[in-house]
Amino acid sequence: GGVATGQRHDSAHKHVTGTAIYIDDMPEPEGLLHGCLGLSTVAHGRITRLDLSEVRKAPGVVDVLTAKDIPGENDISPTGRHDEPVLADGLCEFHGQPIFCVIATTREAARRATRLARVDYEELPFIVDVAGVNPKKGKLVTPPLTLSRGDAKAAIRNAPKRLKGRMALGGQDHFYLEGQIALAVPGEDHDVTVYSSTQHPSEVQHMVAHALGVPNHAVTVEIRRMGGGFGGKETQGNQFAALAAIAAKKHGRAVKIRPDRDDDMIATGKRHDFVIDYEVGFDEDGSIHGVDFMFAARCGFSSDLSGPVTDRALFHCDNTYFWPAVHAKSAPLYTNTVSNTAFRGFGGPQGMVGAERVIEEVAFATGKDPLEIRKLNFYGVDDRNVTPYHQTVEDNIIGRIVAELEESADYARRRRTIAAFNANSRFVKRGIALTPVKFGISFTATHFNQAGALVHVYTDGSVHLNHGGTEMGQGLYLKVAQVVAEEFQIDLDQVKITATTTGKVPNTSATAASSGSDLNGMAAQNAARQIKDRLTDFAAQTYQVPRDQVVFLPNRVRVGNQEIAFADIVKQAYMARIQLSAAGFYKTPKIHWNRDKGAGRPFYYFAYGAACSEVSIDTLTGEYVVERADILHDAGRSLNRAIDLGQVEGGYIQGMGWLTTEELWWDDKGRLRTHAPSTYKIPLASDRPKIFNVRLADWPEAAEPTVHRSKAVGEPPFPLAISVLHALSDAVASVAGHTICPRLDAPATPERVLMAVERLKAEA
Ligand code: MTE
Ligand code: MOS
Repeated sequence: GGVATGQRHDSAHKHVTGTAIYIDDMPEPEGLLHGCLGLSTVAHGRITRLDLSEVRKAPGVVDVLTAKDIPGENDISPTGRHDEPVLADGLCEFHGQPIFCVIATTREAARRATRLARVDYEELPFIVDVAGVNPKKGKLVTPPLTLSRGDAKAAIRNAPKRLKGRMALGGQDHFYLEGQIALAVPGEDHDVTVYSSTQHPSEVQHMVAHALGVPNHAVTVEIRRMGGGFGGKETQGNQFAALAAIAAKKHGRAVKIRPDRDDDMIATGKRHDFVIDYEVGFDEDGSIHGVDFMFAARCGFSSDLSGPVTDRALFHCDNTYFWPAVHAKSAPLYTNTVSNTAFRGFGGPQGMVGAERVIEEVAFATGKDPLEIRKLNFYGVDDRNVTPYHQTVEDNIIGRIVAELEESADYARRRRTIAAFNANSRFVKRGIALTPVKFGISFTATHFNQAGALVHVYTDGSVHLNHGGTEMGQGLYLKVAQVVAEEFQIDLDQVKITATTTGKVPNTSATAASSGSDLNGMAAQNAARQIKDRLTDFAAQTYQVPRDQVVFLPNRVRVGNQEIAFADIVKQAYMARIQLSAAGFYKTPKIHWNRDKGAGRPFYYFAYGAACSEVSIDTLTGEYVVERADILHDAGRSLNRAIDLGQVEGGYIQGMGWLTTEELWWDDKGRLRTHAPSTYKIPLASDRPKIFNVRLADWPEAAEPTVHRSKAVGEPPFPLAISVLHALSDAVASVAGHTICPRLDAPATPERVLMAVERLKAEA
């Protein structure tokens, strides 16, 4: 039951039988009220009249909250920039911005009443798209970042060959199965408990407290599990939690807010889309001398997490490549759209897409296989290993990963087979690409890299475990329980996994940046070790043996020559008044980051991987199929192979959706028109690769002493899907004899693939 087993997800059977309890499944408190948001119908405008009289008169309506009903601060900006109101106060900055919140006796009554509002606006000019904005001059929501090493301009100018280009890269809706939800229950002294579907209970606690104007101790936030978060519940739950808490306190009744899917998609932030400008200097072999990037992001109307997200894009504009000279700049642009937020990879995948486009351009310009250009420009092991942010890559295993995958996926032979197939196939064309991944692990804001845990051993030897991490389906609870079971050498079912709550472990960081098991696993291990140390001391003294003769064996402890059941030694320790509870703590060592200088060691280590994807496209329609995918992904010494394989498969498929069919589309009035599965296409089970070979590079030599030498695995597999985009590009390029770089934008929808095919045919 300890680590390194393939134990199934603790809730897998509950998920599939519908018995896992999500917030909307909790028994409803007596007198529960329901909230529904009233949204702005203009992209940018001043409210000249807000007439809610019909709303108030509607059946079942108990109250309508507006900005003036917020007792504390009308702000939920997570980074303290004070640019994100809970409810718009006079000014609306995007179509879909919440202006008021109806509180009614049923959810249906609240929704119906919302439609009766009469709002007049003085409309103002608005910006939706960043493609037309000069990234050097546009309004920003947060300060940009520059990374630079060497003289990129000179390196590009002096290189034998150079080229420049631009790529548009779309955003992505999180499409968590369980939408946003908050249930606020008022309590003693007007305190409030909020059940919030959030990756960041401590932040919800702080935001609710600010909005209520009360100390943090008056608010408790709890979450047992989310039905998916993917970054979309790092900050986006704040609004619903704050409004539910305000209404609950005002009326002394429990209040639940669960927006429907359309409102959820319209009113909550998404992955940042980018326009990436690049210039590269290289030689005839395809060896790159210098690169210059501009990453312009559509951030929406407020900063939210756009600072750290656009920073992380820059941190990954190298992917696995050594840029001898590099200059990269971000432009976190203001737009009149919903404020974009965290999404699996947190900007990193967007940076890598930029790097891979540069590689692809160089491959076409030199007439070589892109994989050859990739390998030629990989980071070295002992040299050529300094990143654009001046961190040395010390744990580089990309060469080994790519070599093994190239072999197991039979890349070279299949490339020849595909060329032969394409020569004989008039309309269907095949393409293949093998792309690498290197993903930096740690929050780039150094102080977030800390965690706490609480472990109680009860007198029967059973264990209560709590920590600051949240469960969103990724298997964190199970992994941390495995770590504790391993420490005590007891069966996994002796460890009770309990809901995350700000009342047990305080001041936590978001479960994000894939650091959940690294941080909370270590904190829980620390707590368990404290108790184990006390038990060891107790046993050594009581049985008069040296400490090293106290050994924890499966469900028992060997003390000298005798073996005592774990539960018995615990009982004896209790009788001897030994403390059987401990708070654990962990902070990541070695990391530091100076943003002004653009230098430091922001990442404790890197996770690596590679994927080889093969597609076929129909050149008459642009439709495509992923025929086969082979993945080799590095999870260090895996804490749980079953969970980790699930993360790799899920990450790849979700990334594939981002780069292929998931398209966000705003109309000329700034309205998001893709806000339901009818218009927004996430991958189906039938879209997965026909052949799907996924392996973990379960190599024991992880460079740093992480928890049981495992590596973070939540986000790093997501950009493996870049191989699908490049396989599509390879198939498209075949229509022009691989002489022209298709410059395929993403998402590469069937329409875009078809247009690229037509363009290349015309140019060839
Ligand atoms: N896996 C599932 N099933 N559901 C999710 O919401 N979120 C991803 C990833 N894997 C997610 C998931 C994201 S964005 C992150 S940051 C990590 O899980 C967070 O969990 P970890 O730190 O425990 O890996
Ligand atoms: Mo993940 S985007 O860091 O929640």
